[in-house]
Amino acid sequence: MDTEAYSNWLEIDLSAIQHNIHTMQQMTGKPVMAVVKANGYGHGMVEVALAAQRAGAFGMGVSRIEEGLELRKAGITSRILVLGYTRPARIAEAAANNISLTVYDHEIARAYAAEAQKAGFQVKVHVKFDTGMGRLGLFPENNLDFIKWMHDLPAIELEGIFTHFARADEPDPASVREQMVRFNRLVRNIEALGMRPPFIHTSNSAATIYHPEAHYDFVRPGNAIYGLNPAPEAPLPDTFRSALTWKASLISIKEFPPGYGISYGHRYRTTRTERIGVIPVGYGDGYRRVNGNTALIHGRRVPIVGSVCMDQCMIQLDEFPSARIGDEVVLIGRQGGAEITVDELAQKWGTINYEVVCGLANRLPRVYFGE
Ligand SMILES: Cc1ncc(COP(=O)(O)O)c(C=O)c1O
Repeated sequence: MDTEAYSNWLEIDLSAIQHNIHTMQQMTGKPVMAVVKANGYGHGMVEVALAAQRAGAFGMGVSRIEEGLELRKAGITSRILVLGYTRPARIAEAAANNISLTVYDHEIARAYAAEAQKAGFQVKVHVKFDTGMGRLGLFPENNLDFIKWMHDLPAIELEGIFTHFARADEPDPASVREQMVRFNRLVRNIEALGMRPPFIHTSNSAATIYHPEAHYDFVRPGNAIYGLNPAPEAPLPDTFRSALTWKASLISIKEFPPGYGISYGHRYRTTRTERIGVIPVGYGDGYRRVNGNTALIHGRRVPIVGSVCMDQCMIQLDEFPSARIGDEVVLIGRQGGAEITVDELAQKWGTINYEVVCGLANRLPRVYFGE
């Protein structure tokens, strides 16, 4: 692994991602569609998808057609499903690249059908149902005529139906159960009409781990493939491995006299002679400008002091007289016996681990290893 060139970088363990996919394949006995949208949850979409494909992933879930097209260009040959909205003007591209689209609205479906008919091709679609997520999706009640219409249209290949859980990451299963009741009723009605599509799917990471009754034809995890917990209350089993480490180098060390203001706004002021280091990590990299951040150096935790800047922040090094420029600092991951998890940062930043990793800036070099 060549990290000599960088002073602020991410290390991504592709073998951890593959291990997590294998774990879910074994746990569920079902194919795994790896959700790699939003730049593979910050881990790098193309590299993650190629590793997932080599691990036998059944397909890739993305949010935008642009992501699907990028994956095709990069050599992804397995199924690609766009889970979000696609403009009707793009469906020829989708069909030409064998990318399946999501339909969740009658008007959009009619526009797809008209475009496909006009151009003489067939577009693959999965119909999304809102069984309680309160976001995209048709209500599962009163839409059988619509399913029949789609099913009979030559311009459309009805490849799947699916739903998405709002609260699968909570210990109380009541919400998942309510959603399942509505979805299962729909599935039975569609089956009774003899129109069952090849793929019925519902399970995000939390449902993959905690709700085997919801696995259907394939599971659709995102967070878990990266080894991230669906929620603090819904942790992954210990067998999962986290894939991400965020490292930086110490780029400056100075002794400041007592009373010296550190960084913008002088929100930290030295109380004695203090040894303060600088690392080239800032909010321009996705590191939040909040009080109370910490980092690891020489296997121990140190406070980040003063305002986090766009490209730098400062660490307190009084207890590290031997620290030198070039020493490795860890923002996420392990060093020696110490660890900073994405969950810990998320809690500190008042958000969820998903937002922490999706916020990792594109400018951060990503170094892959492990295969
Ligand atoms: C429709 C859909 N399916 C699956 C996922 C994966 O969810 P998770 O990362 O919680 O596993 C997402 C993520 O937001 C999604 O929107």
